[in-house]
This record gives sequence, C-alpha cells and structure tokens, in this order.
Amino acid sequence: MTKQTYITLNNGCEIPQFGLGVYMVPGDEKARQNCLDALALGYRHIDTAHAYQNERGVGAAVKESGIPRNEIWITSKLWPSEYGEQATAEGIDKMLKRLGTDYIDLLLLHQQFGDYIGAYKAMEKAVLDGKVRSIGLSNFESERLEEVLDAAVIKPAVLQVECHPYFPQGELKKRIAEAGTVIECWYPLGHGDSGLMNEPVFTELAKKYNKTNAQIILRWHIQEGNIIFPKSTNPEHLRENIDIFDFALTEDEMAQIKKLDKGQRFFTLGLAEQEASLGAWKPED
Ligand SMILES: NC(=O)c1ccc[n+]([C@@H]2O[C@H](COP(=O)([O-])OP(=O)(O)OC[C@H]3O[C@@H](n4cnc5c(N)ncnc54)[C@H](OP(=O)(O)O)[C@@H]3O)[C@@H](O)[C@H]2O)c1
Repeated sequence: MTKQTYITLNNGCEIPQFGLGVYMVPGDEKARQNCLDALALGYRHIDTAHAYQNERGVGAAVKESGIPRNEIWITSKLWPSEYGEQATAEGIDKMLKRLGTDYIDLLLLHQQFGDYIGAYKAMEKAVLDGKVRSIGLSNFESERLEEVLDAAVIKPAVLQVECHPYFPQGELKKRIAEAGTVIECWYPLGHGDSGLMNEPVFTELAKKYNKTNAQIILRWHIQEGNIIFPKSTNPEHLRENIDIFDFALTEDEMAQIKKLDKGQRFFTLGLAEQEASLGAWKPED
C-alpha cells in the first residue's frame, strides 16, 4: 500500500493530504471507473462537486470498491443556485442521495456569490445534524472571505483555491492562519500547463530522485503543507501521482522552487465574469 500523509484540520478531523480530483471527468460512468482505478492504487480522498455532474459516479465507486466508508474521504461542493438557509438544507439532502452516502466528509461553498452567509449557516447545521463532518470555502479570495470568517460559528476547515509553484498563495495563507483554516490547491499541476511542468528546476530534481516533473511538483505541495488532488484519467499518471511518499526534497530544493513564484494565475476570469457564468449548467436533483 502506498504511504499517505494526513493533516489534522481545525475541527480535529484527519484529512488525507493527497487525493483525486474529478473536475472535467465527464459523466457518472467515467467518474466511477476513474475513482475505482484510483482507489485500487491506494487513493483515499476524492474531490468532486455538484457542478462536475459526476457525484453519482463517485458514490457508486466508493460502494463498489468494498473499502470501508470511513477509510475514504469524500469532498463535494454546493453551487450558488442552492445557497440560502432553506435551499442549502434541501441541497445537502439531495447531494447525500446523489453520493449514496449518509455523510459527506467535507462540504464547501463552491463560489463566493449569492446568499453565501445563509448557505454557510445551513452547512453549520448539517454538521450538528451529523450529515457533514467538515465545512469550508472555495474561491473566496475577496473581502467576502473575512465576512464569512467573522460570521462563522464553525470556522472553515479549508479554503480551496488555485495554488501551484507560480501562484503559491502566501498572502492568502496569512489571512486564514488565525482561524486554523488550511489551503486546498486546485490546479496543483497548473492544469497540466507545459511551461510550469517543464521548468528546468523540476527536470533537474526529477533526474536526481528518479521521478517525473509532475511528481516533483506534487511532492513540493506535500512538503508545503498543501492538500492536493490532481486530476488524471491516464492510468500511468494516476499511478505516478500517488507515488510521491518515498522521497523528500531538501530545504534548499524547496527554496529553489519558491523562486518560481511569479504571482501568475492560470484562471484569470474576474469576479463579474465569474458571476455572469454561474448559470452555465443545470443543477441536478
Ligand atoms: N474549487 C474549484 O473551483 C476548482 C477548480 C478547478 C479544479 N478543482 C479541483 O482540483 C482538481 C485538480 O485540478 P485540475 O484537474 O483542473 O488541474 P491539475 O490537477 O493541475 O491538472 C490536471 C491536468 O494535468 C494532467 N496530468 C495529471 N497528472 C499528470 C502527470 N503525472 N503528468 C503529466 N500530466 C498530468 C491531466 O491530464 P491526464 O488526465 O491526461 O493525466 C490534466 O490535463 C480538480 O479535478 C478539482 O477536483 C477545483
């Protein structure tokens, strides 16, 4: 069994630091197979969302794997179309049905629009009701982050945002430190960007450790204390991505990678454009 590392969240729950992301894995059947392949390789953490439209496939794989439910961490995310105290409470019940599970390990507000305060309150209630173990935020990088942090009775366990060596989120980490919130990274490999993946420092270190450039980037994330779930539907990449727990980068190597910080995001839509695109898909039952 591949080794795994865990991070203790601000509510005491232990999250596997590494997992599988299923954004853009099209449809339930493809997601089911992708998750089954990953679980067989030792993955124990899956990151999905209502908006990915593949939660049923994720839930089916968890059941079919035969692995005890409490050994697999499932994260999903609520879309703003289901924000508001009542709407979110109903949305959570529908999500539990789609996932085919009694509880969700980690539930996030996917986007910082609409009645996110009402939605957050409903997530807090779902924790008290035992439907959700941990709650958090995704893409809250404006002043709305502080608004939720102030209103929260249960502080967000995680904040999921774009984060990779070109944009390591140093400032954001400072804003959430007091609440004990930790960063989960989307685009951990820069969404596969070849410029990032082929940086000479990664090629050099890959040679030294007999690893691939992707493995060096993922190992950097682990040592930075980030939670990651790279997406891959390629069996070779799937195997390679989890094989990062048998070596360690030195402090000097971590410092060399730190120099790649260019303040460069790959996702560049502004807030107004993001809000305008919220209705691009039809929420499922
Ligand atoms: N909260 C949000 O708003 C948000 C937004 C975006 C993503 N996410 C989450 O973050 C997860 C990861 O983000 P992402 O999928 O967009 O980007 P990513 O994990 O940084 O990159 C995925 C890309 O890298 C390729 N890849 C994976 N492993 C590789 C390897 N070992 N060597 C070479 N190429 C490799 C994949 O292609 P192959 O499939 O061919 O391997 C795919 O094209 C998502 O699945 C989702 O769970 C959340």
